[in-house]
Amino acid sequence: RPIDNGTIDLEWCTQAETPAGKVGCCPPRSTTSVVDFVHNTQLPSRLRQPVHLLSSDYIAKYIRAYELMKALPPDDPRNFDQQANVHCAYCDGAFLYANSTERLHIHRNWFFFPWHRWFLYFHERILASLIEDDTFALPFWNWDNQSASDPLPNVIPQMYLTNPVLFDDFRNPDHFPPRLADLNFVPGDGAPISDSKQREENNALMYKQLVNARTTRLFYGKEYHPGDSKPDGLGTIESAPHNTVHKWTGSSGKPHFEDMGVFYSAARDPIFYPHHANLDRLWTVWKTLPRNRKGPFRPRRDYKDPDWLNATFLFYDEKRRLVRVRVRDALKTEQLGYRYQDIHNAWVTARP
Ligand code: C2O
Repeated sequence: RPIDNGTIDLEWCTQAETPAGKVGCCPPRSTTSVVDFVHNTQLPSRLRQPVHLLSSDYIAKYIRAYELMKALPPDDPRNFDQQANVHCAYCDGAFLYANSTERLHIHRNWFFFPWHRWFLYFHERILASLIEDDTFALPFWNWDNQSASDPLPNVIPQMYLTNPVLFDDFRNPDHFPPRLADLNFVPGDGAPISDSKQREENNALMYKQLVNARTTRLFYGKEYHPGDSKPDGLGTIESAPHNTVHKWTGSSGKPHFEDMGVFYSAARDPIFYPHHANLDRLWTVWKTLPRNRKGPFRPRRDYKDPDWLNATFLFYDEKRRLVRVRVRDALKTEQLGYRYQDIHNAWVTARP
């Protein structure tokens, strides 16, 4: 097996196979050669904050960054639509997995957390460079935070509704504020429940999906090796709240709950990024919890399999260089230069 077992070949990229048919979302060809990722120790450390606590200065900066990203030429890999295409290409099999003849998928398997961390890392760096502010960090949508006195974390944040640059037409208006997010949403699953019941169910779900997912396989998703056919071993959090909040946000009037409700279009909605920043944060929370139920603290474990650690992906960076990254370099956010603002995760101790 090649060491670079996740390497994809951009030259090979084909149309993605999506529930909506074939979609062209291959990235532009690179004119320079691929560089290997090295952690940049020159950058200031960045703090990712919850959307509902952002200052108006930060919001203005954030909107400016997206205006600039959307105004880039359509074939610039840093352009907003190109960013959405990166997600489409990796999610719907536009590439082959290593030297196999099978298409690569980064959902429903052990690549879910590390791949999305890398995707957000480069997305954040591109936004930062467009506004020339290396302290810039993506915010997170803190939908797991259920407080009766402050419903703000758990509704669609206002800035994604009121600013044209952050708005998206394909969303479900029935789910706009004050409706609380249903973290275990199933389309067509009966009438909405009361807010207090919703909070209770959301907390119980978080406990089950994250606190109770003690093993590597339950949390990360199953092993997925070159040559394996389409994976179907999704981890607890990927299943819900990840998939469920995607579907909850997308338009129920569209065949596949576009934009957020289906892979090929999900990242066309700017709310994709704070949604995934929260999932990335939950990964850091998972790592702080004990593996055992009783006795002295035993840490939760990452996969040790070289097919996971050495798997590589390609992303365009803020300088339009094509960068090869490895899963092993994504395991610590501090190494990547960012951390999450400390939030009280009430559900951690709220055993249902
Ligand atoms: Cu790659 Cu939330 O999907």
